[in-house]
Formats: sequence, structure tokens, C-alpha cells
Amino acid sequence: MSKNYKITLLPGDGIGGEIIQVAVAVLEAIAPKFDLSFQFEAALVGGAAIDATGQPLPSETLTVCQQSDAILLAAVGGHKWDTLPSELRPEQALLGLRAGLGLFANLRPAKVLPQLIDASSLKKEIVEGVDILVVRELTGGIYFGKPKGIFTDEHGMRRGVNTMAYTEPEIDRIAKVAYTAAMKRQGILCSVDKANVLEVSQLWRERVTNLAADYPNVKLSHMYVDNAAMQLLRYPKQFDVIVTGNLFGDILSDAAAMLTGSIGMLPSASLGEPNTPGVFEPVHGSAPDIAGKDLANPLAQVLSAAMMLRYGLNEAAAADYIETAVMQLLDSGKRTGDIMAVGCQQVGCQAMGAALLELLSSGL
Ligand code: IPM
Ligand code: MG
Repeated sequence: MSKNYKITLLPGDGIGGEIIQVAVAVLEAIAPKFDLSFQFEAALVGGAAIDATGQPLPSETLTVCQQSDAILLAAVGGHKWDTLPSELRPEQALLGLRAGLGLFANLRPAKVLPQLIDASSLKKEIVEGVDILVVRELTGGIYFGKPKGIFTDEHGMRRGVNTMAYTEPEIDRIAKVAYTAAMKRQGILCSVDKANVLEVSQLWRERVTNLAADYPNVKLSHMYVDNAAMQLLRYPKQFDVIVTGNLFGDILSDAAAMLTGSIGMLPSASLGEPNTPGVFEPVHGSAPDIAGKDLANPLAQVLSAAMMLRYGLNEAAAADYIETAVMQLLDSGKRTGDIMAVGCQQVGCQAMGAALLELLSSGL
């Protein structure tokens, strides 16, 4: 009996539909080999959902997601919705999914691939071999802390307020995810905070430090966020796993992604408690400028599907298989425009997908 998984597809906006189609074809192609079957259901999210329902995350979409085993998301947003008030913008859908599904752990790997080393804007010797996992807390911190809002005082002066807050359990659970990830990697964990200024960071540092005794094989260090930004550019190879709060993680994960120079290749996972559905999505956005032109790089979406198999469905062998195929595809010299290099062959999104399917069916 093959294992059946219910997957919610959220193509969203821009290039979303084109790239998610490739990932679905890949999942369908590998399913028989690993005795899996997938039941896909698409739902509206982002600008597409705003156009159809007035809401970036309709309640039906959240319900479908909650009832599935995992969610494959492409990207949301586009110029068309840029002028809407912030609570109605496509990006709100991401925050709603994170809160609604309890996705507190965001895994953002930034690995420099040897085939794409020249794509980085940094010198080859700085980025060669870089393999960082940013573990970003995703449902707390300043994104969700209360009070929040724009308040008017008795003199009519307005004041914008957000609150950076973390409870002990919130810190502990994200720290455990990071320690566990570090154990499976090089065993080096750097916790990033602003403990020289912020009380919330002092508590963060204390809790992360207290847990170290439970993970004797992990070497823990702490770094202030401003220094971490510098160190990422100066000597990124010092990092293995970085664990940090929501806002710092937002910023540092973009910096780490840029080290690779190929944001079109980077997947991510957002996870909640065990046995609840996670969301798997590329790091890049909806790229409205190239939407519908068959120019998008589908590989971050495909690698997100691999992360879904590995972290969401516990199907590591199938994930390995897809990742190996992607590496072979790059070795073959096929490139979409964003990762094009001298001596390579430039192809579109569909041709990239077709070449990948061919490799997968060849047995690698
Ligand atoms: C990200 C994005 C989102 C965030 C925005 C679009 C809400 O920047 O996923 O990193 O800030 O978390
Ligand atoms: Mg961001």
C-alpha cells in the first residue's frame, strides 16, 4: 500500500503558477519509485485571493491547509496590490498562515553550490563551501507582540508601536529546533540577539544557554545582530546553524541568501509542532516582471518540495533523490536566466522542468 499525502498547493501570484506546476510534476514523477501518492488541492492566497474574495487569506484556504499533510506555497504579491492598506495586502497571507498554523520555526538554508559559485557578488574564496541554516522564530517577537498599532494621545499626536516580546516557552521551542538541526549538521550553533540593549534578548540568551547542557555535542556561541551582519559578509564559513528571533531572522536570512548569489535556488520550510502541516516555499518572491514569460527558475520551488518531503513528511530518501537530480541538472549546464553563466545553455522555466523530469525518469 502506498502512502498517500494530501498536499495543499498555494500558487499565489506572479510566477507562482509556473513554478509550482514544475514542482507538482516532479512529485508525481518520483511518487511511484518511493511508493508514495499525492492528492493535490489548490487554494487561493495573496493577490489572487484578494481579487477573488477581497481577502489575502480566505478562511476556506486556511481550513484546506489545516486539513492537509503539508502545504506547498509559491509566492505572493505584485505591483497591483501595492497600494492597498497593509492589512489587506498579499503579504498578510503569509503572516496569517504562520499564525493560523502555528508555524514557529522557519528553516532557511543558504548553501553555496559549486556550480553557481560565480553568481555570488562576493569573492569566491569567501563564499566557497558556505552552508548555513538560519533558524528564524516565526510566530513571535516584534511581528506579533502586543501592544501594536498607531495610537493617538490626548494632544492628537500619533505614535506607532510594536512590541518585541518572547516568552520562555517560545524561546525554548525554537532553540530546541536549532540545537536538533545543528546535531544533524556540523554541531555549531550561533544564537543571534541584541542582549547588550534589549531585555527580550537577555532572556533569549539565558534560555538558549540553559538548554546547551542537553546538547553536549553542539558548540554554542552568541553574537549581537549587528556583528552577525558583518560576520556574514566577512567570514561566512564560520557559521553552521544560526538561531534568532523573527525580525533579526528576516534580515539575516536575506543577507545569507545573497551570499549564494542565486536566490532563485533557495527553498525554505516553516514548521509547527510535530504532526501538524508545515509550509514549504521558495525564498524568492513572485517576480511579477517576468510572470507568464516562461523565464522563472523553478528550482527553488522544486527544492521546497524536497524540503517538504524531508521535514514535513519524513520521506528523506525521496527528498535526497530530488536534490541529487537538481545537482545533476546544474552539472549538465542548463540554466535559467537568473543563474546563467558563460558556457552554459539558457532555457526557460518549462524546459528546465522537462530536463529535470528526464533526469528523474532516467533513474539518475
Ligand atoms: C519573509 C518576508 C515576510 C516577512 C513579509 C513579506 C511579511 O519578508 O518571509 O521573509 O517579513 O516575514
Ligand atoms: Mg524577509
